Amino acid sequence: MSRIAYVNGRYVPHGSAMVHVEDRAYQFADGVYEVCEVFGGRLVDETRHLDRLDRSLRELRIPAPMDRRALLTVMRETVARNRVRDGLVYLQVSRGVARRDHPFPDPPPAPALVVTAKSLSAAAGDKAAASGVSVITVPETRWARPDIKSVSLLPNVLAKQQAKEAGAREAWFVDPEGRVLEGSSTNAWIVTHDGKVVTRQADTHILRGVTRAAVSDLIGRRNLTLEERAFTVEEAKAAAEAFITSASSLVIPVVRIDGAPVADGQPGPVATALRKGIHDVTEMSHVVTPPFV
Ligand code: PDD
Repeated sequence: MSRIAYVNGRYVPHGSAMVHVEDRAYQFADGVYEVCEVFGGRLVDETRHLDRLDRSLRELRIPAPMDRRALLTVMRETVARNRVRDGLVYLQVSRGVARRDHPFPDPPPAPALVVTAKSLSAAAGDKAAASGVSVITVPETRWARPDIKSVSLLPNVLAKQQAKEAGAREAWFVDPEGRVLEGSSTNAWIVTHDGKVVTRQADTHILRGVTRAAVSDLIGRRNLTLEERAFTVEEAKAAAEAFITSASSLVIPVVRIDGAPVADGQPGPVATALRKGIHDVTEMSHVVTPPFV
């Protein structure tokens, strides 16, 4: 089945979906994005994603391309037209198209909106979670505001490629004091030997993950203890468990850090249980893609 993209007001064949050469996101990374999970034909945690989108837009003083109801309609329609049951919907807003010049264009152009959707194999994610994954650590090389979900992702791309070349799934950015910030496209977590679940506080140095928030809710629901604080690479290597979270991977146990096994090198019970329970606490839209017959 051919894919369909939404580009500035029109649903077009994915293969011929185009943006202008002077789109500010293309020339300056002057744009923001969201990636929202689709599970069983439903959008997962769309309110949290759109709240974070609003915040990113506000921080960069980009106007919303349309109101929230309209945006939700476009996201759901794009998922439906691509017949995605399990996968992702991607949304990108740029400051718009203008003659290349660094300051914000004046008068401001209309923000540009692109929405795409793709299917992912749920089985592939479950397989990675069942065996656990490796991470490497890399120095933080990003700008000072990774809490804004901007499309400025070059350091993330380079870190992910480095991980891939090292046979790992993810790269954890580490600050000059040796503290883990987050992954190139995931948040980072550990479980201590006394059962506390630890993730870095959501300040301006990491992205406030939507899955991170859902996992925090689930930790509360399961009467586990959540600690939002920095942890070092050394602490992570000596932890009982480690895991990563994102909308695209949910919860995946980490079994090796820089080649060293975490505990016995097997996925831990807390991460495995959190993965299993995640959709018990997430917001689910109505079914936008019915099951295929
Ligand atoms: N990545 N940290 C970074 C740097 C991210 O890019 C992401 C998301 C996360 C996890 O956030 P969430 O739980 O809201 O997905 C943390 C998306 C999936 C991506 O870029 O593809």
